[in-house]
Amino acid sequence: MKVDYKQALLDADAKGYAIPAFNCSDCWEMQAVAEAAAEKRAVVYLATNMRVAQSVGLDYLYAMAEVARQKSGGHVILHLDHSNSVDLCKAAVDSGYQSVMIDASMCSLEENIRQTREVVEYAHRHGAIVEAEIGRILGRGVEGTYEGDDYLVRPADAVALAESTGVDSLAVGIGTAHGFYKSKPHIDLERLRQVNRLVSIPLVLHGGTGVPFEVIKECIKEGMAKVNVGTQLHATYIKDLKTRIDAASTNISDLMEPVKAAIKPVVAQWIEVCRAANRY
Ligand code: 13P
Repeated sequence: MKVDYKQALLDADAKGYAIPAFNCSDCWEMQAVAEAAAEKRAVVYLATNMRVAQSVGLDYLYAMAEVARQKSGGHVILHLDHSNSVDLCKAAVDSGYQSVMIDASMCSLEENIRQTREVVEYAHRHGAIVEAEIGRILGRGVEGTYEGDDYLVRPADAVALAESTGVDSLAVGIGTAHGFYKSKPHIDLERLRQVNRLVSIPLVLHGGTGVPFEVIKECIKEGMAKVNVGTQLHATYIKDLKTRIDAASTNISDLMEPVKAAIKPVVAQWIEVCRAANRY
């Protein structure tokens, strides 16, 4: 089913649930996400990061996501995740992506605003929506290095970025990290509360993998309307594949069907945690 992308996020924000976004790299992950979404009657994002977009190709990913959407009947929004390139964002919009993220969080606030504005202007003209980032998500990613606690969002910067760009949603650094956490994550809920009081657009939590579900639920209560999950899906994929792969394995679909089956319950669980089930 086609989704009203902008309305979906606003609905989640207004009703206090979150739309989960799942990072996908191939058709098996996309099928797993789209089918689980359809079974749970949830709207979800199929997110493809820069590396996947550059390796597989935007047109290829768009075509796969379209087929996954049509075959499953799932409400999926195809999203470019963490692009630090304005041109790649525009190319994704041209390829039919419904949502793009421009991540200029490693730049000065002025440059972040400039790049975000350029992507918003282009995307909105073509009917797509845009996510930007302020503060930084820890761990591997495109955000670069940080000093002290400068990865945490400054509420005034969040207001400036939101109000001067017309961006649709904002990823905010509150202590979450991409990948598995090496120690217990310290999530700055008070900072999130402050930002949510000052910024009216939906907020986005990155680095979902490994954050205790109770903390995720608190974050949703405090304004996170989109929750990103990647590593847990990919780790499930690889763990399952490793258990059955051997030198005699040559039938790829025999190997991949169980991988897909292993990913689906992970997706379903996150849909429940985000309170995103039965929304249509
Ligand atoms: P994890 O891989 O830590 O779940 O984070 C995903 C993410 O935030 C993608 O932008």
